[in-house]
Amino acid sequence: MNKTIHVAIIGLGRLGMVHLNNITTYGKGIEVVAVVDKINARAKEIASEYNIELFSDSPVAICKNSKVDAVVITTPTDTHGELIMEAAQNKKHIFVEKPISHSLEQTKAILEAVEENDVLCQVGFMRRFHPKFMEAKQKIDQGAIGKPIYLKGFTRDNPPDKYAMSPKRDFLKTSGRIFLDLAIHDFDLARYLLGSEVKALRSSGKIICNPFMEEYGDVDQASTYIEFESGAVADIESSRNSPYGFDSGVEIIGTEGAIQIPTIRDYEVSVLTATDRSELGSIFPANMEQSYLNEIIEFIHTIHNRKESPCSAADGVAALEISVAAQKSMDTGETVSISPEKSVQS
Ligand SMILES: NC(=O)c1ccc[n+]([C@@H]2O[C@H](COP(=O)([O-])OP(=O)(O)OC[C@H]3O[C@@H](n4cnc5c(N)ncnc54)[C@H](O)[C@@H]3O)[C@@H](O)[C@H]2O)c1
Repeated sequence: MNKTIHVAIIGLGRLGMVHLNNITTYGKGIEVVAVVDKINARAKEIASEYNIELFSDSPVAICKNSKVDAVVITTPTDTHGELIMEAAQNKKHIFVEKPISHSLEQTKAILEAVEENDVLCQVGFMRRFHPKFMEAKQKIDQGAIGKPIYLKGFTRDNPPDKYAMSPKRDFLKTSGRIFLDLAIHDFDLARYLLGSEVKALRSSGKIICNPFMEEYGDVDQASTYIEFESGAVADIESSRNSPYGFDSGVEIIGTEGAIQIPTIRDYEVSVLTATDRSELGSIFPANMEQSYLNEIIEFIHTIHNRKESPCSAADGVAALEISVAAQKSMDTGETVSISPEKSVQS
């Protein structure tokens, strides 16, 4: 397939606009021909602003439209599964934001629909496409630090409702909670960088700053200790309480060295406080903009060259399995094992 890919963006909120802006600016081999939002006025407004031919409040109608080759799904997490299946059954290639679904039970049907209809499905784990993490992966694969034995990773999000790109309470209600929504990025990155599947994990968490989260059975601070099949272990910190803005980092210790990415900010600062936010590029699109663009460029190349997705539906399911196990571990206080005979292998 070498023609221009005609894509529909479904869900015009925070991430829908990130991908819409990247695709329209990049523009090589891809064109946005439709925008969809359940709020029709929103779809109409964006279509007019970006001069896009089709707009709708119906993802089903757009998936059935023969002018559309591929969809970018950026709706709330609890809608991903049914929209992936709708798109696959209509032979549309799929880019879906993480997590692939809010339910592990749904993933078997998702993988079958993708395979039976011979479409590509890429999951939005954009950290894999961040220049710093890409370099780390390359160095590990080249053996620069020997055998990786330990990984420490973190994601610290803006406090809810506080800043322009903070998660809203309504978002948190359907997010799937901290492990499925936030820690899943670090679980995917750890699995990717260490090149190993998870054997067992133990998670804990509590509410420190946001009492309203109790209503959703969620926490705003969590820790996960993971054992990998390779023998490596990892500690993952997950937070919604970062006063200095959105941040993420990773450290990997190997038998012969270490790789340190202490922050995704582009420059060093000595004092991190709420008043330094603007200098720090504190919102996630600013810190991750190259990653969001790189993952969409890779999606276009994958469709054109019909190659294996660098972040496949199977990767999406594997990360979801880890996140579900983490939630179970925090709820029960027990270590949870992940079976090596999983149906999904990446
Ligand atoms: N990769 C990342 O860095 C990252 C960051 C934030 C969010 N996300 C993911 O992106 C997804 C969307 O998150 P967001 O923050 O953009 O949400 P959002 O609430 O800002 O936007 C969601 C949009 O989808 C629309 N919508 C809701 N249900 C719909 C439906 N059935 N059909 C069509 N439109 C519908 C809403 O009206 C809204 O405009 C979530 O799954 C989230 O996990 C990923």
